[in-house]
Amino acid sequence: MKLKIFSLSLLFSFATHNLYSQYKISVIGTGYVGLVTGAGLAEFGNLVTCADIDEKKINKLNNGIMPIYEENLEPLVHKNVQANRLKFTTQVAHAIKEADVIFIAVDTPEGRDHAADLTALKKVIEAIAQNINGYTVIVDKSTVPVGTGDWIASLLQTKYKIPTDLFDVVDNPEFLREGTAVKDVLKPDRLVFGCSSEKALRIMHAIYQQLIEEQNTPVVSTNIVTAEAIKYASNAFLALKLGFINEIANYCDAVGADVQTIAHAMGLDARISPQFLKPGPGFGGSCFPKDSQALLHHAHRHGVQMHTVQAIINANIMQRHKPVDKLLRLMNHDITDKTIAILGLAFKANTDDVRYSPAIPAIQKLLEYGAHVKAYDPAAMENMQFIFSDIIYCASAYETVKDADAIIIMTEWKEFKDLDFAQVRMLVNQPIVMDARNLIDPDILYKHGFLFDTIGRSYLTNASKIIKNNLYNHH
Ligand code: UGA
Repeated sequence: MKLKIFSLSLLFSFATHNLYSQYKISVIGTGYVGLVTGAGLAEFGNLVTCADIDEKKINKLNNGIMPIYEENLEPLVHKNVQANRLKFTTQVAHAIKEADVIFIAVDTPEGRDHAADLTALKKVIEAIAQNINGYTVIVDKSTVPVGTGDWIASLLQTKYKIPTDLFDVVDNPEFLREGTAVKDVLKPDRLVFGCSSEKALRIMHAIYQQLIEEQNTPVVSTNIVTAEAIKYASNAFLALKLGFINEIANYCDAVGADVQTIAHAMGLDARISPQFLKPGPGFGGSCFPKDSQALLHHAHRHGVQMHTVQAIINANIMQRHKPVDKLLRLMNHDITDKTIAILGLAFKANTDDVRYSPAIPAIQKLLEYGAHVKAYDPAAMENMQFIFSDIIYCASAYETVKDADAIIIMTEWKEFKDLDFAQVRMLVNQPIVMDARNLIDPDILYKHGFLFDTIGRSYLTNASKIIKNNLYNHH
């Protein structure tokens, strides 16, 4: 029989109605979302088991080693393991049996026709059906097509004959970003609960009670379908902002305007907000590219045309060509047999994730042109070696730029911003920089005699000194 344990220490620290209940939660799938969510749920006072079929990953975690690079994750995990609120297992069946609440956080990668591939999710549902042991709340954390929650409920009822009073399905979308995942989980902007029963909604409130009562985190309670759609709408809107600012950047390059100043001025309008207005080499990662395709595909299936979402996808495909196209122009198309130094392989800074990284098409294109590629990333080289095994991986940024004919900055790691460009200038064969993240102060590159380009700040690079003095010095 499953137990709900009341935490005495918390009972003493929070008076009267602040009786925090400790739910037994099993998180199935210990990837980026599952691991950080599991550690967060433990930090909120719940008893959490993170389960995964990947033995290597679970062994690492049981030995205190993080399988992913994520700032502040290790201390959070260690703290909660030591407090006996967090454990790791490969025994998925057992984890299901002992749970009051099951969080599903398995991968839903892009499958055929751009629809989300639900193979892993189906396996988890089957395992739940075989091991469910008393009333259980089944919470979906993975980004799944709208309608999946209702489909899970009907599968459990009709295929597996699980009585409806034995479970409730909830959709609780995750909004964490890789690189800032711990902060995003511990201090979220909002919680979304898509529930079909009052009982499940009460349990969700209890699980997140600490956030709701101490941080006043806003809660949006709705039905399952709406919660699922909130996740897609949020990601598509953020991707839309990026696609838009990237196009404005390209326009700036053509007319001699400065995208950074435009983004700054736009962001001062509270209706727009300054976030997600940094142009770059196109968005990547495991979410925006996949989720915008899945939304488009799902809308099509329901006879709805989503012109803006289609435009985001198209614009992003074009943007991914920008860094190498601009580099070619800087090098007068003389790139065959030249050595190009790539600084940054991760799809963004502070992560080791290379999924859909803009560095991938850039390296591919450079190799097609017959260039030699040297690369460095503080965290993502091991992952990139699975994609490109025969480019040269270097131990530092300085080693990478040594004897290079050009440098492309692909990821906005602070380490690259802090490089000593006087030293870089001494090391390179040709002083050419394509800064695909607008990371380096153009004055520094000027000072050290680099020929360079940016995304949407070309007026700084191509225009005359007079224009530069008139415009740039004002910022
Ligand atoms: C994104 C969302 O931001 C999260 O809210 C969501 O939970 C997550 O997807 C998900 O669905 O799981 P993530 O992909 O981890 O998070 O990272 P972001 O910080 O959103 O970056 C996505 C891409 O946009 C990166 O390639 C990044 O370099 C790019 N980006 C972001 C820019 O080019 N400019 C910006 O101003 C911001």
